[in-house]
Formats: sequence, structure tokens, C-alpha cells
Amino acid sequence: MSSSFLEFMPSQAPAGEPPVPSIVPLVTVEPTPEMSETERELVKRLRTGRAALPVLPQVAEAALRLANDPDARITDLAELVDTDPPIAARFMSVANSVAYWRGLLTSSTQSAIVRLGLANTRDLLFQVVYAASSGGLKKYQMQVQRSFKRSVIAAVAARTAARELSLVTEYDYMSGLLHDIGEARIYRILDALPRPDDPKIVADLVQRYHTAAGAEVAMAWKLPTEIVDACAAHHDPQAIGVPHVRLVMIADAVCDALDSARSPNLQRFESLLVDVSIARRIIDQTKKAAQMSVRP
Ligand SMILES: [Fe+2]
Ligand SMILES: [Fe+2]
Repeated sequence: MSSSFLEFMPSQAPAGEPPVPSIVPLVTVEPTPEMSETERELVKRLRTGRAALPVLPQVAEAALRLANDPDARITDLAELVDTDPPIAARFMSVANSVAYWRGLLTSSTQSAIVRLGLANTRDLLFQVVYAASSGGLKKYQMQVQRSFKRSVIAAVAARTAARELSLVTEYDYMSGLLHDIGEARIYRILDALPRPDDPKIVADLVQRYHTAAGAEVAMAWKLPTEIVDACAAHHDPQAIGVPHVRLVMIADAVCDALDSARSPNLQRFESLLVDVSIARRIIDQTKKAAQMSVRP
């Protein structure tokens, strides 16, 4: 599996053959002569349904399952995290950066999980896995890093907006975090192809294909449909009626507001059915939380 994220997470390599995620490809468009050479190659690879499809580390898969299991024991998850030293180290560093602000620094995985709870632990483990999968590109490393950083802000924004708008769901943070995970996948496929002369081609391909590519990642990882929907439909204006997709659209608007040096486009929030005063509050709270690395 040359395109697997495993090469960037050697700790995840199982002893035998790595499992190949399998999904029904969402990208079924045929390559045509009208397409650029780069797009034709991208489409060919996406049509296989396997190109650059990351393998979900066992520890994240277990966290997803255990967070919904009323009988789950924290020690089970702590033991599993500890079997993977690179993930454990990154998890502790993120957990402590959260805990620091609450005065809860700890060096034991188990006490970190006790303090965070299983659901927050799951969310942070996915953040760690996503971060770990964002390395090793030759041509588009900066773009992928930028996409990851923005995704963490989107996660904080989605959680903040969920609270402000009474749209809290089990997966608000993860939906914000993972909705653009398809961008990294498209960049990774393009990384193996000759760089097109016009950089706009790359940006355009990422924009047009990242939703389907991301929904495929979510499906391969067997994530809840709420997250698959967020990946697939967050640029589709018709999906505004689906509350969990609308939440991610709002999170995206918050990211743009924080990105822009100019004053935020509050009209966009109105079109997402968010009152301007609430939008301002969500933007402010997200900014504060993001600056302090604190989850809301
Ligand atoms: Fe997007
Ligand atoms: Fe986005």
C-alpha cells in the first residue's frame, strides 16, 4: 500500500499485511479529454476507491467504540493507548495542553482519560491521528498543515456554535475536525503526480474533489453517518436544512471570519440562519479558545 498513511505512522504498521480499507467509491466520473492531465490522473486514482485512503489506527477505532459503551472501562482504553508510544506521547501532549489551563497536568494516560472523559479522549485521539497523517508530503506539505490547523479551529468553532445554538451532538467536535479531511487526501494523491504549471489547477481540484474524498475516508473508518454527511455536503447550499451539516457550515464561516484581516462577513451567518449577535459571540469564543488551546 504505497499510498497508505502507514508510512507516516510506523507505529501503526501491523505485523502482517495491513488491512486495506474498502468502500464503494463516490467518485465515479470518467476521465475525459477536456480534463487537465492532472485531473485525469486524480480521477483515475479516486475511481479505485483506495488511493491514499488512510488506515484508522486501532486505538482510535477502539476509542470510537468505547465512548459509546456504557460498560467501557477507562483502564481498557488507557492500556490500548499505552501500547502505541508515538500516539500515547502525542495524546498526552495535547491532553496536557488542554489540561494545563485547568490546572490538571498529569503524566499518566489513565488519569488524563479520567479527567477528560471517554468522549473527549476519543475526540483528541482523532485529532492526534489526523495530525500524524498530515506529514511526509513533498510538494504540498504547507497546504496540508494549513488545512489541519484550520480543521482544529473548525472543531472548536463547531463545538462552540453547537452550544450557542443548542445543536449539541455527540459528534460536533469530530464533525468540525474531520469535515475537510478529504483535502489532505487529495493533496496526498497529487503529491505523487507531476506538479501542474498553474497552481490554480491544484487548488481547484482540491476544492472540487475534497468532499467526496473526505466522505470516503469517513466511510472507510466506519465513522457515524453524521460525520460522513458533514464531509460530503458542507459545501452544498441545499444541505443547510440538515442541522449537523449546517453546524459545520457555520464552523467554516467562523474559520473564514478568523482568517480574514477584514471584519467578518456577517451576512454569510444570516444566510446560515444565525443571528448576527450570536455569530459575533461564536467568533469571539472560538478565537479565545483557539488562542489558549482550550476546548470549549
Ligand atoms: Fe470544505
Ligand atoms: Fe472547511
